[in-house]
Amino acid sequence: MAKLWGGRFALDSSSLLEEFNASIMFDKELWNEDIQGSKAHAKMLAHIGVLTGEEYKAIVDGLERIASMIQADEFVFRMADEDIHMAIESKLTELVGEVGKKLHTARSRNDQVAVDFRMYVLKHNKLITKLLLETMETILHIAKAHTKTILPGMTHLQHAQPINFGFHLVAWVCNFKRDVQRLESDFARNNFCPLGSGALAGTPYGNDREMLALELGFSAPTLNAMDSVSERDFALDMLYTLSMIMMHISRIAEELVLWSSSEFRFISLSDAYSTGSSIMPQKKNPDVPELLRGKSGRVYGNLIGLLSVMKGLPLAYNKDTQEDKEGVFDSLKSVHISLKILKECLKTMSVHQDNMLRMAKIGHLSATDLADFLVQKCNVAFRDAHHITGMVVAYAERKGVDISDLSEEEILSIDKRILSGVKEVLCLEKSMNARDTLGGTSSRRTMEQIDELSAFVNEHQSLLK
Ligand code: ARG
Repeated sequence: MAKLWGGRFALDSSSLLEEFNASIMFDKELWNEDIQGSKAHAKMLAHIGVLTGEEYKAIVDGLERIASMIQADEFVFRMADEDIHMAIESKLTELVGEVGKKLHTARSRNDQVAVDFRMYVLKHNKLITKLLLETMETILHIAKAHTKTILPGMTHLQHAQPINFGFHLVAWVCNFKRDVQRLESDFARNNFCPLGSGALAGTPYGNDREMLALELGFSAPTLNAMDSVSERDFALDMLYTLSMIMMHISRIAEELVLWSSSEFRFISLSDAYSTGSSIMPQKKNPDVPELLRGKSGRVYGNLIGLLSVMKGLPLAYNKDTQEDKEGVFDSLKSVHISLKILKECLKTMSVHQDNMLRMAKIGHLSATDLADFLVQKCNVAFRDAHHITGMVVAYAERKGVDISDLSEEEILSIDKRILSGVKEVLCLEKSMNARDTLGGTSSRRTMEQIDELSAFVNEHQSLLK
C-alpha cells in the first residue's frame, strides 16, 4: 500500500518495519481528539483563506462520518496506515475525494499528536478528579458515623494513643485532597494548545493559533513551537500524579488487609468484594485490597518508563516519543478502576467497633494521661509521675487487665500521691477527647475536619460542572 509520505521512496516498507513502526494499534485510543483537532484545524484554514467554505464543509462532513464509523465499530484500523492521524486522513480522502488531501496543509503529525495526546490527558485529568472527589465523599460519609468509635492509634504499628475511627479516615481523605489539588495544578499548567507549531518551527501559512486554542478549549497557545512538539511534561505530570494516587490507595489497601485479618478484626470486607481459596474452603481473602496495593507497581513503572524515554532526547520531535502513550493509557486505566473499586469496597465493608475498642484496651493507651493527671492535678513532678504511672501499669499487668479497667479505689491504693478523680482520666474516651488541639483526634475536632473536607469536596465538585 502506498504511504502518505511515500513520494521519495522507491521500495515498499518491509512488513517487519511496518509492524515495528506503527502505533495505530494503541493510538487509535486518540481517535476522538484527532477528529476534534482536525475539525478545528480545518476551520482555522478556512478562516485564513487556505480552504474555501465549500472545501471546509466537505472536510468537516467527512470527519464527522469517520467519527460515526469509529463509534459504530465500522472503521477498519490497518497497520499500513501507521498511526491514527494517517488512518483518519487517508479515510477522509477516500470519502470526500481530492479535497481531503488539503487538510494536512500547515500542519505536521508532530503538532497533531502533541495536541491530540494533550487533550486526551486533560480530559482524563477531569475524570480522575471526579472519581477522587467521589471517593473522598464516600470516606467522609463513613467518618461522620465514627467520630466516637475508639481504636488504637499506632506508630511503628504498635499501639500508641486512643483515636477515633473517623479521625483515621480523615487522614486518608487528606491525601486525596492533595491529589485533587495536584490534578488541578497539572491542568492549569498544561492547558495550552500546541497545534499550529508545525513540524518544529511554525508554518509559513499564518495559522491563527489563538483561534485554534479557543476552538479546542485551551486557555492559550503554547509559546515555542520547538518545545511544543517535543515536550511530554503534560504526560509525565499525569503519570506522577497517578503514581501519588496509587501510593495513597496502596497505603489504604494495606490497612484494609491488616484490619480484615483475624489478628485485627477491625473490619470485614463484603462477600461481594472478597474472594475464596481454591483449596481452603474456610477462607475469605482480601484480593481486592491486595490488587489495589499491587497495581501501584505498574503505575510507578509507567512513570519511570516515560522519564527514561525522554531522557537525553535532542530537540525537537523524535520517534522515541511514540512510546509515550501506552504507559499513560495503562496508568489511567489502573487508577480509574482502582478508585472505583476502592470506593465500593469501603462502602460495603462492616466496621467492628467492639473489636476496635477491645484492641484499644491493650497496651495501656491512657498511661500518658495518668502521668499528665499527676503533674497537672496532684502537683507531682513529671519524673515522679512517670514512675508512679509505671507502678500502676505493673499492677494492671499482674492482674492481666488494662489500666483503664482498674477501679478508682485500686488505683488510689497504689500510691498516696494519686488523688481522687483519677479513674476519669484513664477512660479511653476522655483520653481521646483530651486531644482537642486544632487537627487533634477529639470527636469535636474530627467533626471540624470532616466539615472542612466536605466543603472542599462540594466546592471542587461544582468547579467540575
Ligand atoms: N505516531 C507518531 C507518534 O505517536 C505520530 C508523530 C509522527 N511524526 C513523525 N515525524 N514521524 O509520535
